[in-house]
Amino acid sequence: MNITVFGTGYVGLVQGAVLSEVGHNVICVDVDAKKVEGLKNGVIPIYEPGLEPIVKSNFEAGRLNFTTDAKSAVEHANVLFIAVGTPPDEDGSADLKYVLAVAETIATHMTREAVIVTKSTVPVGTADKVKARVQQTLDGAGKSLDYHVVSNPEFLKEGAAVNDCMRPDRIIIGTDSELAEKRLRKLYAPFNRNHDRVIVMDIRSAELTKYAANCMLATKISFMNEMANLAERFGADIENVRKGIGSDPRIGYHFIYPGCGYGGSCFPKDVQALVRSANQVGYNASILEAVEAVNYRQKEKLFSYINAHFNGELAGKTVALWGLSFKPNTDDMREASSRVLMEQLWAAGAKVQAFDPEAMEETQRIYGSRDDLILCGTKEAALNDADMLVICTEWKTFRVPDFDLLKNKLSSAVIFDGRNLFEPEEMAERGFAYYAIGRGL
Ligand code: UGA
Repeated sequence: MNITVFGTGYVGLVQGAVLSEVGHNVICVDVDAKKVEGLKNGVIPIYEPGLEPIVKSNFEAGRLNFTTDAKSAVEHANVLFIAVGTPPDEDGSADLKYVLAVAETIATHMTREAVIVTKSTVPVGTADKVKARVQQTLDGAGKSLDYHVVSNPEFLKEGAAVNDCMRPDRIIIGTDSELAEKRLRKLYAPFNRNHDRVIVMDIRSAELTKYAANCMLATKISFMNEMANLAERFGADIENVRKGIGSDPRIGYHFIYPGCGYGGSCFPKDVQALVRSANQVGYNASILEAVEAVNYRQKEKLFSYINAHFNGELAGKTVALWGLSFKPNTDDMREASSRVLMEQLWAAGAKVQAFDPEAMEETQRIYGSRDDLILCGTKEAALNDADMLVICTEWKTFRVPDFDLLKNKLSSAVIFDGRNLFEPEEMAERGFAYYAIGRGL
């Protein structure tokens, strides 16, 4: 099938590449000419395992192309995905200006019937706004054409995006049109072989499903962080509690890892956006407000440990920081806990020597050059003349460190671990002061 995808960000690029990988003819459109040129030359703007080879091979095979020319891209296909960004605006609501601009572009260039699919995470009711914008544009141009708007939210995780897209748990199709359902079933048939993963529903339920999924996951994390904070105060170990409750299949082991807070481009933004949408319909989403508040506090937790350990005397201290990205296997720093920590450390007069396997360039881009931030080429180099080690992201390379080296290099044998990578008893035996999340002090 011929498919067009608007937006070559995380969602659009992965979606386009994966659809071409299963044999569809895909054109990805972006307004950023430099990005489009780069993609044609195999420059992938994000770090995502497995993405580069499929972009390159499908581009070479002619099944995947990139353009800034919206007109030819609209003419190319009768399924048009909108996968552009929905950044939060000032009050935390999702800003739909890019989504609606694409709707208008599509209607401007449409010359035949089309299915328009929203893939971006958009508030409930957005499909109606897309429809209205398309209709208004068609009317303005004096065109009378059939079109169907579908909500088909994306559930991929950064760092596992290609795999999530190739093997989806579910494919949600929100539509009121049989034709659109049939066409999308055909499009997704290669991903739907062994059992039916397609769930068809009305548009608004599909839109809410996306938020409900992310908000449920964020709720699990904040809940566990709250339990971890209680475990500390009760003298219990959250890791035992985690295993104890996870063994109940109704609770499950997934997404109950306590830590120094969730980050990324999705959970913080989506929880806030649903709180705002709820307010707009006169409802106070108090669970979600608490989820956000707990997460905010959790991101400040490592700093409070550090500050207390050093009796508030952090000026002139050097902090070795391992892990900058919001989670492993990505270079994404959006809403990362490391940022909250670094900014608090700087405000207290400390210097940060940081290492991350992928997010060094991104950190440089965000913070530029400053005297109190040293980006180190290896995790060992970050330890040079440092007073303590702090871990913000659970990259595999941090899991089995050379503890003797750590002891030799750090002026105080103290580790602040935001991801519970080590066993407190073992750390005590090794002679470290070890602060983790919810594991006693
Ligand atoms: C999330 C969802 O997991 C995807 O299903 C969804 O499609 C995506 O948002 C989206 O809306 O696009 P992502 O933001 O890539 O994916 O990352 P996650 O793997 O969900 O991790 C989010 C944050 O939660 C990370 O900071 C991670 O460290 C934290 N986390 C996760 C915990 O603190 N504890 C856990 O048990 C799990």
